Amino acid sequence: MKNILVTGGAGFIGSNFIKFALQNSDYNIINFDKLTYAGNLENLSDISGDKHYTFVRGDICEKEDVVKVITGKKIDTVVNFAAESHVDRSILGSREFVHTNVMGTQNLLDISMKSDVSKYLQVSTDEVYGSLPEDMKEIKFTESTPITTNSPYSASKASADLLCNAYYHTHKFPVLITRCSNNYGPYQFPEKLIPLMIAKATDGEKLPVYGDGKNVRDWLYVEDHCSAIFEVLHKGNAGEVYNIGGNNEWYNIDIVKLILKLLGKTEEQITYVKDRPGHDRRYAIDSSKIQKELGWTPKHKFDEGISKTIGWYKKNESWWRKVMSGEYLNYYEKNYSTKL
Ligand SMILES: NC(=O)c1ccc[n+]([C@@H]2O[C@H](COP(=O)([O-])OP(=O)(O)OC[C@H]3O[C@@H](n4cnc5c(N)ncnc54)[C@H](O)[C@@H]3O)[C@@H](O)[C@H]2O)c1
Repeated sequence: MKNILVTGGAGFIGSNFIKFALQNSDYNIINFDKLTYAGNLENLSDISGDKHYTFVRGDICEKEDVVKVITGKKIDTVVNFAAESHVDRSILGSREFVHTNVMGTQNLLDISMKSDVSKYLQVSTDEVYGSLPEDMKEIKFTESTPITTNSPYSASKASADLLCNAYYHTHKFPVLITRCSNNYGPYQFPEKLIPLMIAKATDGEKLPVYGDGKNVRDWLYVEDHCSAIFEVLHKGNAGEVYNIGGNNEWYNIDIVKLILKLLGKTEEQITYVKDRPGHDRRYAIDSSKIQKELGWTPKHKFDEGISKTIGWYKKNESWWRKVMSGEYLNYYEKNYSTKL
């Protein structure tokens, strides 16, 4: 591996992954991002001058953009983070999710294969496995759990995974798939649970909790997700799926209460709101395959990771305020109104 194309590298996990890869290798990283509302180049301002880093604005759905970057930058490895990623938005409208997550992946796979890319990693999600029973803690998602999608978001991600599988089986194209649980950490867009609650708690606003707050998610610090993807890129077997998780299940309501406590606020700020339609009850990942076969383990304990995350949002209030006000989008209008 020399020249890695990281799609969606201006988003939450992609930007953390780029920094991780620059710190842990001498690969050339080409960040290819459309800069949708979720893409923010400020996430990468500290490494924008690194000689191993290049940004190219482009759309994974556009053939011309993808051919140009893959051939022009002599790409040998593709890591696809680019996606519409917010379940609530997919409930309001699913078209963009199918377009980006399915058609975009198809376009990337096709051009990567025809350009002799030697490795393609699809960053997928545990949401493709559907929902687990709340009262059977011994049951977790394994790589062979059947795909059962309940939201337009998860359906679009699962469709992309199936295409990846098809390219491997039909064309012998070396595809790897990772399926990770919920991530948290620096640079997460404040529409997602943890940063949204930090922002609202800071501002003394009501913290909206869906339904009874008893939905369970398995939280992983973003840097641990990045290190797992790195392991899969180096040691994973083509055609395989690797689950990634923190073995760290929490009720949403307990996460919200913890955030309030760590910020010195009271639980009076909590308000229960109408549940999300089709809201999956419980996700929990069995990550024994990646642990046993590739030797990966998460490094961050949850209490350490959540304190670090809250500390980051406190220190970087101007980052999330700009994101929430939409001010960062004006910057793109001025600086990136034409493609690079
Ligand atoms: N956030 C999580 O907890 C989580 C967990 C498991 C898997 N994932 C997956 O990881 C990936 C990254 O998630 P995230 O939370 O960082 O998402 P994000 O929404 O923060 O970032 C997505 C990025 O993709 C870019 N993008 C969107 N459409 C594009 C297109 N057509 N062409 C090029 N770039 C485009 C956006 O500009 C943005 O920078 C997604 O594929 C998501 O499904 C996320």
